[in-house]
Order: sequence, then C-alpha cells, then structure tokens
Amino acid sequence: MKAKFQELDAKIEEAKLGGGPKRIEAQHGKNKLTARERIHFLLDEGSFEEIGMLVTHRSTNFGLDKQKFLGDGVVTGYGTINGRLVYVFAQDFTVLGGSLAEAHAQKICRVMDLAIENGAPVIGLNDSGGARIQEGVVSLGGYADIFYRNTVASGVIPQISAIMGPCAGGAVYSPALTDFIGMVDGTSYMFVTGPNVVKTVTHEEVSSEELGGAQTHASKSGVSHFTSANEVAMIEDLKKLISYMPQNCEEEPLALDYTGGNERREKLDSIIPDNPNQPYDIKEVIQEVVDGDSFFEVHEEYATNIVVGFARLGGKSIGIVANQPASLAGVLDIESSKKGARFVRFCDCFNIPLLVFEDVPGFLPGTDQEWNAIITNGAKLLYAFSEATVPRVTVITRKAYGGAYDVMNSKHIGADMNFAWPSAEIAVMGAKGAAEIIFRKEIAAADDSEAKLKEKEAEYAELFANPYNAASRGYVDEVIRPSDTRIKLIKSFEMLKNKVKNLPAKKHGNIPL
Ligand code: HXC
Repeated sequence: MKAKFQELDAKIEEAKLGGGPKRIEAQHGKNKLTARERIHFLLDEGSFEEIGMLVTHRSTNFGLDKQKFLGDGVVTGYGTINGRLVYVFAQDFTVLGGSLAEAHAQKICRVMDLAIENGAPVIGLNDSGGARIQEGVVSLGGYADIFYRNTVASGVIPQISAIMGPCAGGAVYSPALTDFIGMVDGTSYMFVTGPNVVKTVTHEEVSSEELGGAQTHASKSGVSHFTSANEVAMIEDLKKLISYMPQNCEEEPLALDYTGGNERREKLDSIIPDNPNQPYDIKEVIQEVVDGDSFFEVHEEYATNIVVGFARLGGKSIGIVANQPASLAGVLDIESSKKGARFVRFCDCFNIPLLVFEDVPGFLPGTDQEWNAIITNGAKLLYAFSEATVPRVTVITRKAYGGAYDVMNSKHIGADMNFAWPSAEIAVMGAKGAAEIIFRKEIAAADDSEAKLKEKEAEYAELFANPYNAASRGYVDEVIRPSDTRIKLIKSFEMLKNKVKNLPAKKHGNIPL
C-alpha cells in the first residue's frame, strides 16, 4: 500500500508543477502568478477542493503525445470566498500556453455544470493562448461547449472573468459572455486577432497593449469593467465584487450588519452649485449617501457621463446608476446608454435593488449619434429599466429633461419611488430652448427681441425649472432636502424589500440589441 500512496503523492506533486519549474520561473518573470497561486489568494485558506487534477489530453498530433501534463493546463474546482461557495477555473499558462482543447474544455464545463446545478458563482481566471492549435477542431468544439454553458448560466448564477495574461481568439468570447471582466494593467490582453494578423489584413501597425490592453478595454471598447494594478489587487477586487451579489438568481444578496446610524448628511445640502449650468461630481453625492466606503464602481473609465456601481445602504446591496454632470454635462449618449442598460440588467437578474441619481440635460444631438443608432442604443436603457422588477428608487438632483426624464427610471416606466431635491428642473427642455421655440414669432416681433426672450425664458423656468409641477401630478413622490436623502432611501428600500412584480409570461423579451 505504501508504494501506492507514494505513486499518488508523486502524481499530485507532478500536477502541482504544471509546465515545470522553468516555465513557472518564466511566468513569475513576467510579473504573473501561477494558476495555483491565484487560486490560493482568491479562496479562503484551505477551502479549495480540486476536481480533475489528473486529467490529460488524448491527442497525438504534432508530438502532443510527448507533451502530456497532468491537469491539461487548467486547474478547476470549488472553494469559498468569505465562507460562500464559488466554483473556479484557472488556466495554467505554463502548460502549452494555457491553450484550450478537448480535455481542458471538459474540465471547465464540469465546474460550470456543477455551478449551475448547485447555484453558486463561477470565477474564471483566464490566461490562455486560445484554441490549442495542434488539436484542431476539438479545440473549437471545446470553446463552443463553454460558450453554450456561459449563455445557459447567464442570469442564473453570477459569472466573473479575470484576464490575467494574453487572451487571444476563443479565449476572449467566454469572458465576453460573462457578467463582469476585470483586467490586470500591463500584463493582460484581449483580442480576437493579434497585432500580426491585424497587420496582414488591415496593414495597421499596433502594439498588443494598444490593441487589447487593460486601458484600451477599460476606456475605449468598454469590454472590461474594471482594471487592477496587479494580480493580487485584481483578486481583492474580485472578492469585493462578489460580496455584493447573491449566490444565484433565486437568492437575495448578502446583507451585512450595519452598525452606523442612518444619520442626515449635511454635506449634501451644499453640493449642487447655484448656477444650474455649473458641473459637480455626482460621485460626491453617492459617497455621502451610501455606507462608508462601500461604493464599488464598475466601468469607471468608460462612458464617464454615466456612473454605475455597487454600494451598501444600511448594510444592504444596491446597484447605483447616476448621470455625471462633471462629464459631458451628464448627457445620455450611445455608450452611456449601453453601459447603464447592461448594469441595470445585471442587478435585475440578481435581485439587487436599483438606486438612480438623475441630472441629465437630455440625449446628445448630432449626426455621429444618430448615424450610430442613438435611437436603438438609447432604447436599451429604456428597455432595461422598464423590464426591471427589483425595487427601484430615483432621486432627481437637478435636471430631468426631455426623453431622458422618461428613461432615467421615471415612475412611468416602473420606478417605485421618485424623490426630487428642491434644485430639480423637470421639463421637456431647458427654459431658453423652450422659449425660443414656443414664442418664436412673439420674440421676432418684439422691439427688443433679447429682452422678450429673457422674459419668456423666465416664464418657462418659473413653471418648469423646479420639482413642484411634477410633484403636483405625483410624478415625484416627495421633494426632500438633500441631507435627508440617505434616511429617505433606507426607509424606501426597507418598505420595498418584499416587492413582488411579475411581467407577463413570455419566452424572453426582445431588447433592442
Ligand atoms: C498551442 C500554444 C498556443 C496555442 C501558445 N502556445 N499559444 N500552444 N496552441 N494557441 C504555446 C507556445 O507554443 C509556447 O510553447 C507556450 O505556449 C508559451 O507561448 P509563447 O509564445 O512563448 O508566450 P508569449 O510570448 O507570452 O506569447 C503568448 C501568446 C502567443 C501571445 C498567447 O503564444 C500567441 O500568439 N499564441 C497564439 C495565439 C493564437 O493565435 N491562438 C489561436 C487563436 S484561434 P513552448 O513549448 O514554446 O513554451 C482561436 C479560435 C477559437 O482561438 C475561436 C472560437 C470562437
């Protein structure tokens, strides 16, 4: 028996070495951790249980029969993060560049199936050269098996992808189907085709970093949702992110004990500038309203005219969507609509109540926006809010103009409570623009057209540049002092915590994609 135990121990040792000490050294030399080290940092001490450690590929193509590695380039299993079950896979770049083929894919599919059946999140730590070229079509089949499961799991369990190395070809599409993607600055890349192929096909010269580095995907494409300075920071971000989520769509998010008071926040009374055209930072408002430093921003560098992220209010998870007057005056455009819609849908999938801060001058005009389908893209946000059945509360801090008033979680599209600050202006458009249109003839005929315009502008502002007209119709439930916002919101979400709202039975809706 002793010999058999030794055989087992030797196999475990071999598997733990992945592609061997030299390749591990090379991995460390690139400022990257190994797959096992990543899992070690991610999961609670001693909680990891590995599945499929001894799996190998069955290919004999191109000398692969002489390159068998126990585990086949991916470490899979389950464990806990702060005591909560998660399934995990971590690709091992030291084994054939973390490339994916039949056996590797089967291991990932196995943990995904377990995660779906047992209702717990899947975290993928990706570091892969894509389809294992030597194995040919079975690699493509393996990817498709994963893509299919990503789609089936969507909205059932949270799926999170960390990109911790080069991810090329098929390696990018599974992350793209998951809920959130994080990238490590400087050491991770995502592209469908790398710089060499780009050069051949389009004659563009571009570096890997420029084409698909963390900064590119965080700010230009919006493919990634957050960027971490290094791998350990990324793992800490993953843990924080998951703390706001429930285990699956049937459960409520974890509520933490909140020991602080639900006190008034006086600073909120002085954030809105006297001049309605002067910007302010909506994140200051968010920080003041939510618990301590609980705000965790998503998509921080992308479409900065809208701010989205998770936070806690009285210990409970909420999702926040807020126009940002400090960026493009908080206008809604194509990118911000898509960003907002995606976040709203995630929160709705996973029973995370939505809080909206509204200060929006309208949709961005222009040929660029129209020709690139602001109509379809703006409709995404409208659709996402309209179909969301979680508790939904809006606070209008200043402008709520035009179609954007409807879109930003108005009561007409299903918001449960709508508060406005005394600085709110709720109208079809700004007073000057409105006066110019409806009093055009009168202004043109006046001896002093400028004075007439000012007079008519004041008339329109008097009627609409305030929250009271909307409040008189019940479109706004209450006009509140900014400093009372936190207390009002905690009470509202507490009142709404048992909300049940069912949409008509359907196979699925048809969001304007
Ligand atoms: C097999 C691979 C591999 C792959 C890397 N390796 N990618 N083996 N299949 N796809 C191996 C290398 O041969 C090498 O083995 C080891 O991994 C490390 O790779 P290096 O090139 O030395 O590392 P690095 O310089 O860091 O470059 C990493 C890389 C590069 C950028 C990922 O290896 C690369 O460009 N790989 C090919 C990417 C690719 O075109 N993939 C296929 C995409 S098609 P040795 O033994 O020398 O150490 C695809 C289709 C699916 O995925 C579509 C589904 C929708």
